[in-house]
Amino acid sequence: MDLHILDHRLRVTSISKSGLEQYTHPLIKLIFLRNRTRCKFFSLTETPENYTVVLDEEGFKELQPSEHLQVEGSTWLPLNVVSNGNASSSSQAVGVTKIAKSVIAPLAEQHVSVFMLSTYQTDFILVREKDLAVVVETLAEEFNVFREEGGESVPVHSQDACNGLQRNGREVPHATVHPVLIPENHFCVMSLDPDTLPAIATTLIDVLFYSNRSKEDASVDQDMECIVFFSFSLIDGYISLVMDTEAQRQFPTDLLFTSSSGELWRMVRIGGQPLGFDECGIVAQISQPLADSDISAYYISTFSFDHALVPEEDLASVTEMLQTQRMSS
Ligand code: ARG
Repeated sequence: MDLHILDHRLRVTSISKSGLEQYTHPLIKLIFLRNRTRCKFFSLTETPENYTVVLDEEGFKELQPSEHLQVEGSTWLPLNVVSNGNASSSSQAVGVTKIAKSVIAPLAEQHVSVFMLSTYQTDFILVREKDLAVVVETLAEEFNVFREEGGESVPVHSQDACNGLQRNGREVPHATVHPVLIPENHFCVMSLDPDTLPAIATTLIDVLFYSNRSKEDASVDQDMECIVFFSFSLIDGYISLVMDTEAQRQFPTDLLFTSSSGELWRMVRIGGQPLGFDECGIVAQISQPLADSDISAYYISTFSFDHALVPEEDLASVTEMLQTQRMSS
């Protein structure tokens, strides 16, 4: 299997709900006007707390600093696993489950903090640029590692210089078990031909900027039955959307597509307090048991919390699994 370090240098930011108006103009440009920006990696996720924007340096230039914009201090690089067809695993699972044992667990063992972004097309594992040497060293055992540079894939060899690492035999750090929340919404993970983006523009603008669904409830939405969660990404020309069935109903049915099985997903939101960016092993803790049970999962980190999406029919076993984990910790 191949692991690619993609040619994007990313920033992880958040825009406060009350500051959104100030950023509507650049966001519209980044979403809809592809030939007016050189941004190649853009992801926007609305949660009850804020809007998380992950984007490359070209895109980041568009966001003026203000009190409403929070920026995580590091540069993050996206990694992507490319299976070269002859997948030896018998697993049918998709998403983070596929990479739980080969990527997520080994990185957690090396105390590398990750930031996950699953999309319809693939799963991006973001790592801090400063951790790259450790990342390469760790993953070179299992993967052919390539670095993408200006459209070319250049093989990367782990520098034996950094063999200060103790490898193997290390436990996944016994991470804090964070509280989880399981909202009632059902989600779908969809895609769209970028050429038809104009056709859904008004709906997308409406949902993203004017939804106001329970948004400014000072009560912080006591009945957390349903959660506000909508994610749009445009990465290397591919669009991915994660929305609940209520939002989906607003879109024309013929333009968005989902996998042939058309499954619906339930969310497990991880974190009571904002998770920060330094703790490692959070993704590992959730994705390991999912991998053991071969349950597919998408995984989306946002500025404050993490979100796993699991098939609705597996929710009961996932809940049970989480309970067992809590009891044994
Ligand atoms: N760094 C965590 C890990 O390595 C995942 C990201 C949590 N933080 C966040 N702001 N979503 O498992």
